[in-house]
Amino acid sequence: MRTAPFTDAAPDPNRRRWNPLPDPAPGTDWLTGLWTLGGNGDATQRTGMAVHLYHANASMTDRVFSDADGELLLVPERGGLLLHTEFGLLAAAPGEVALIPRGVRFRVELLDESARGYVCENYGAPFRLPDLGPIGANGLANARDFRAPVAAYEDTEEPVEVVNKFCGNLWTARYDHSPLDVVAWHGNHVPYVYDLHRFNVIGSISYDHPDPSIFTVLTSPSDTPGLAGVDFVVFAPRWLVGEDTFRPPYFHRNVMSEYMGLVEGAYDAKAEGFVPGGGSLHNMMSAHGPDRETFDRASAAELRPQKVDDGLAFMFETRWPVTVAAQAGGAAWRQRGYDGVWAGLERHFRV
Ligand SMILES: [Fe+2]
Repeated sequence: MRTAPFTDAAPDPNRRRWNPLPDPAPGTDWLTGLWTLGGNGDATQRTGMAVHLYHANASMTDRVFSDADGELLLVPERGGLLLHTEFGLLAAAPGEVALIPRGVRFRVELLDESARGYVCENYGAPFRLPDLGPIGANGLANARDFRAPVAAYEDTEEPVEVVNKFCGNLWTARYDHSPLDVVAWHGNHVPYVYDLHRFNVIGSISYDHPDPSIFTVLTSPSDTPGLAGVDFVVFAPRWLVGEDTFRPPYFHRNVMSEYMGLVEGAYDAKAEGFVPGGGSLHNMMSAHGPDRETFDRASAAELRPQKVDDGLAFMFETRWPVTVAAQAGGAAWRQRGYDGVWAGLERHFRV
């Protein structure tokens, strides 16, 4: 598990895409199975974020973890998790997300043979619901759908390894009891789970393609309004009804940097190569958009109402460039020919 600032490789404007993490060695728990892709900011300055992935095949039994550097947004892609926290129990299945606040101790029990997914470590302001502006009182992620932990505590006198991530280093201490022994609490600095299928998707019902910020589930604002330290954005099942509109995302460059992952199914702007458990990175001002096959299909499509219901993709979108850690740049599972998906796009300009 690596921490910002990421200085072992130069920030890179090239588009990047990865296949899922390889299978872990037997006995790999969630913490050992964490693998850092990259990030930005500086954990000691409380700015920026990191992108991690995990692949585990064992439960954390005699150790707990807490992260003093940032809160952790877990996005399970394969395998359910049961999070044992100081505040009680939270189950999170693929299609749901779980948030562990900064400094909260927890351990991860696997509910299936293995577990795979993504983690956004947010060093900045805690994630919160976005301001809804003219949308009004309800919509997008509704507060009523966030689940708090089920009350539980551990009363054991077995040795426990307590791992604390502090300014990028992992510190360990041996306890003679479980620290998950809180029997009552109040307050709001607590873990929670949210089912992404509950997201109330709002989009165009006339023409044109809105900015994906309209799909924001949670936001970590920065000191500049409109420029999030990181937004968590979901591309959930929805109807596409825009008239006279190329419906996939158009080709663009933008001020934000986008790490995208896929929880299930397919994403409507990519034909193949973007698979569940994999991910892509399009850094700020780097051109990207639908691949050749998607462009051809969408350009010829009959524009009747269409349900996009075979995929659940998400994005960690951040105002700062994401520097890819050397281990991610050099990973054998990075798709080195990624730019080839845009090969063959033809010139259509006619005077
Ligand atoms: Fe984009």
